[in-house]
Amino acid sequence: MCGIVGYVGPSADTVALDVVMEGLARLEYRGYDSAGVAVIDADGVQMRKRSGKLVNLRDDIAAHPLPPTTTAIGHTRWATHGGPTDANAHPHLGGAEQRLAVIHNGIIENFHSLKTGLIAQGVSFTSETDTEVAAHLLAQAYTQSGDLTAAMLATVAQLDGAFTLLTVHADQPGVVVGARRNSPLVVGLGQGANYLGSDVAAFIGHTRDAMELGQDQIVTITPDSVSVIGFDGTPADGRRYHVDWDAAAAEKGGYPSFMAKEIDEQPHAVADTLLGRTKEEGELVLDELRVSEEALSQVTKIVIVACGTAAYAGMVAKYAIEHWTRIPCEVDLAHEFRYRDPVVDGHTLVVSVSQSGETMDTLMAVKHARELGALTISICNTHGSTIPRESDAVIYTHAGPEIAVASTKAFLAQITACYLLGLYLAQLRGGSSAVEAAAVMRDLREMPAKIQTVLDRMDRVREIARFMADTRSVLFLGRHVGYPVALEGALKLKEIAYIHAEGFAAGELKHGPIALIEPGQPVFVVVPGPDTPHDLHAKIVSNIQEIRARGARTIVVAQDGDEAVVPFADEVIRVPVSAPLLQPLLTVVPLQVFACELAVAKGLDVDQPRNLAKSVTVE
Ligand code: M6R
Repeated sequence: MCGIVGYVGPSADTVALDVVMEGLARLEYRGYDSAGVAVIDADGVQMRKRSGKLVNLRDDIAAHPLPPTTTAIGHTRWATHGGPTDANAHPHLGGAEQRLAVIHNGIIENFHSLKTGLIAQGVSFTSETDTEVAAHLLAQAYTQSGDLTAAMLATVAQLDGAFTLLTVHADQPGVVVGARRNSPLVVGLGQGANYLGSDVAAFIGHTRDAMELGQDQIVTITPDSVSVIGFDGTPADGRRYHVDWDAAAAEKGGYPSFMAKEIDEQPHAVADTLLGRTKEEGELVLDELRVSEEALSQVTKIVIVACGTAAYAGMVAKYAIEHWTRIPCEVDLAHEFRYRDPVVDGHTLVVSVSQSGETMDTLMAVKHARELGALTISICNTHGSTIPRESDAVIYTHAGPEIAVASTKAFLAQITACYLLGLYLAQLRGGSSAVEAAAVMRDLREMPAKIQTVLDRMDRVREIARFMADTRSVLFLGRHVGYPVALEGALKLKEIAYIHAEGFAAGELKHGPIALIEPGQPVFVVVPGPDTPHDLHAKIVSNIQEIRARGARTIVVAQDGDEAVVPFADEVIRVPVSAPLLQPLLTVVPLQVFACELAVAKGLDVDQPRNLAKSVTVE
C-alpha cells in the first residue's frame, strides 16, 4: 500500500518534479515511511529517496536540486519487504548502468525465486525489496527489445502477486510505462501532459479527466498520447470519466487535521449518499445496482465481508437488514471469510464494504464468494477502484475523499448505504416490509440534520478528551446497534491516540470484563433510546449501575430526554432522538470527536498514526 505518481510533460522544466511532489503529498495517506522520485535528463536517471515522511525527501531535494525534466515518477512507501530505510525506499534502479528506474505498489509473491535466478546471473542487489527484482527484469528485457512497453510486457509475464509498476528509462525520455494487477492505477488525461497515479488525488490539481485501467493492463503515456494493452499484448482501452470533486476537497480547508474536517463533513456524507436514491413518492431506486430484482428476490442469505471500521458498519447493517427483510445476515471479517469454508451458494448475497475499494483482504473475499457462485455487491467510496470492478454490482457511498487514516465520514456513509440496500430488499419483498421501509426512509432523510446537531454540541466532549489525555485505558459498552458503535469507539482511540481501549457488548460484562473495572476506570456507555424494543434501555441502565458501583467513571451517550441515566452518569453526552436502528449515525460521532481531540492533546499526528496506512493492499 504505497502511493505512486508519474508525469510526462512537453518541455524540460521544474513542472514535472512539482507535479510529482504535489501528488506524493496528496497520496501520503497511502504510506509514509519513506519517499522517493526519479527524473530523466540528458545524463540518465537522477534519483533522490529518503526514509521517513515526505518532508525528508523535500529537504533533500532542496539541498541537492534535481535537473529540469519532462519525465518524473515518485513514490511514497508503506514497507512490506524490507524495513523503512533509504536503501529500501523507491525508486529502484535496474541494470548494471542503472538507466532504468521503477516504483511499485503491492507484493511480488515469487520474488525469492526470481531473485535467486538473477543473482545466479551475476546481478547484484542494493535493497531487501521485492521491487528491485522487477527493476532488474525490466532492464534485462529493455536490453533485448529497446522498448519500454515491450520490456514491461515481458516482465509482468514473469511476476506473480499484486502489483502496480511504473517505469522510466534514460533512453526513452518523455515516456512513462505503467502496469497493474490487483493493485490500483489511474491515468490523468491532461493537455500536452499526462499523469499516472494510485488514485486521482495524485493529479487532481492538474486535470479532472481520468481513465480507469482494467486488471492486467499496461499503459504507456507520453505528453500527447495514452495507449493501453493487455498483459497478452492485445490493444485495450480504459473507461474515461470526469472526476466530480476538486483539489480543494482533498485539502484541509482550514481544519487542523483531515480527520477533524472529515468528522465535520459527516452530515454531507450521509446526505450525499442518500441523494438521488428515491423517487418523489419515496420509493427507493438504486439505479447503479446492476442486479435484477428477480435475482435479489431469490436471495436467502446475506454475508457482509469487510475489515476494521467497515466491518463495524457491516455489524450495524446486520441488525437493520435482518429486522427489515427477515433474511439471515452474517458479518465476516474479510480475512477470515474464505479460510473458514463458508456456506455460500447462488442464493447468497455477499456484500463487501470498503472505503478504498482496494483492501486486499476484502477483495480476496469477494473473489472467493464469486467462485462459490454468490451474487456480490460492493459498497464503496472510491470510483474506479478494484473491489467494485470485481463485484456484480456497486452502491457507491458519496462521502468524498477520505484522507485521514482513521475512517469517520466513510463509516457513516457505509452504514447509510447498507441501510439503503436493506430497505431496497425490504421494498422488493412488498407488504408490511415495504411499508416499514418507506417509514424508515423518511427518518433517514432527517439524519444529516441530527448529525449536525451532535457536532454542534461537542465542546464538552473536547474538554473531557483534553482532561483525559493521560488516561491509559478506556472501555466502551453498547448493546444492540450500540455494540458495534462501542467497538468503533475503541478502535478510533487505539489507532490514533495509542490508548488501550476495548469495546464490549454490555450484556457480556458480567461474563468476564467487569473484572477490569477499578476505581476511576473511564467507561463510555452507548445507551439505546428508551423506546428500543426488548427493554434494552432498562437493561443497559442496570449495566451502568453495576460498573458505577465498582468505581467506574461513566461517560454516557444518551438521547435527549433520557433522564433514567442521569443518576448513574459522571457525564452525559446528548444526541437527538431517532429510530433505534438509525442511532449509530449519531452515537458514534462523540466517540470520534473524543478520540481525535485526545490524540491532539497528546501531541500526536491524528491523520497519519504510526504503523498504519489508509489503504491496506496486502493480505
Ligand atoms: O478501505 P477499507 O474501508 O476497506 O478499509 C478497511 C479498514 O482497513 C479501515 O476501516 C481501518 O480499520 C481504518 N483505519 C479504521 O479507522
